[in-house]
Amino acid sequence: MMEKLYEYILEGLKNSPDFYNPNLHQTFESYLKSLQNAAKYLWKSYRSNTVKVDYSDPQVQAAYLIRYYPHYVQMTWEILRLSPEIFTFPEQINACFFGAGPCPEVAGLSQFLTEHSQQTKSIIVQIYDIASEQWKLSREVTKNFVVPKLWKGDISGVVRKLDLCSPNTFDPITEVISNCHLFIFQNCLNEIWNTSTTQENIKFLLDCAPLNSFIIIGDLLAYDQNRRILEDIAKIDNQRNDYQIIERRELEIPSSLRIPEIVRQNLLTGEDGLIPRYRIRFLFLMIRKGEYSSEDLLDDDIPY
Ligand SMILES: C[S@@+](CC[C@H](N)C(=O)[O-])C[C@H]1O[C@@H](n2cnc3c(N)ncnc32)[C@H](O)[C@@H]1O
Repeated sequence: MMEKLYEYILEGLKNSPDFYNPNLHQTFESYLKSLQNAAKYLWKSYRSNTVKVDYSDPQVQAAYLIRYYPHYVQMTWEILRLSPEIFTFPEQINACFFGAGPCPEVAGLSQFLTEHSQQTKSIIVQIYDIASEQWKLSREVTKNFVVPKLWKGDISGVVRKLDLCSPNTFDPITEVISNCHLFIFQNCLNEIWNTSTTQENIKFLLDCAPLNSFIIIGDLLAYDQNRRILEDIAKIDNQRNDYQIIERRELEIPSSLRIPEIVRQNLLTGEDGLIPRYRIRFLFLMIRKGEYSSEDLLDDDIPY
């Protein structure tokens, strides 16, 4: 159940000694208090236009899990459920997630499957991130404490280091790409330093993706770079007839989840740098691979 997402995350942190260690932190409340600096560090880092964050510290990851992750689970879920009828997923889904970090996308997809894809019984996930090793602890929380509460199917898969800015980065995984039903890039474009190579890589992925697969690229509105990259991808897309933009939108969604009292009292207290977020604003592109006639293609000048 989505409503209990914060509870699942806090449960995950409480039961992972690499995050909360009672000998070190005493109460869970004092552990949450100890995350204030990490939460401020993240907030400050995300305020600059080109974002550079070191996610290796477990305190930074824990702060991310509490402060941002719930919104980003909701983001994936909201994008998917805008038009649930178009996702005719099979019994087993192969899905690739790029720049996935702690994988809120997998949790969002899980919730969507529970609500809209009863026929799907298993997912094979491929998780890619430049900091794939560093994010291991948080992925464990997603895998053991969040996803099983949202969806009753089987999840398996692999995690691999991949730099979206590196030329020909998808070459070693073309086989995987050609067998995938769903590709998600979420909230990683503002951390990209080499946008032209990233766009080339995404173009390559669009070439290799199989017929009827979906490519979703979603990111926060706050960064000019995100809008530029999405506009450029949409432009390339309009010059071709082997895939179609099925949605291209800006959305502002209020958080549907209540932040628990223990978090408000000890971490997101409302003081400067620790103000909880109640809504997210993002833009996204949803593309379906296929063969289309020119009338099917979305108008070039449809605004976001
Ligand atoms: C803000 S986090 C988003 C994580 C997750 N997608 C979400 O929605 O919460 C940005 C992620 O992008 C990853 N990242 C940054 N630069 C990258 C690159 N060049 N290639 C692949 N991943 C990258 C970071 O390691 C981090 O996991």
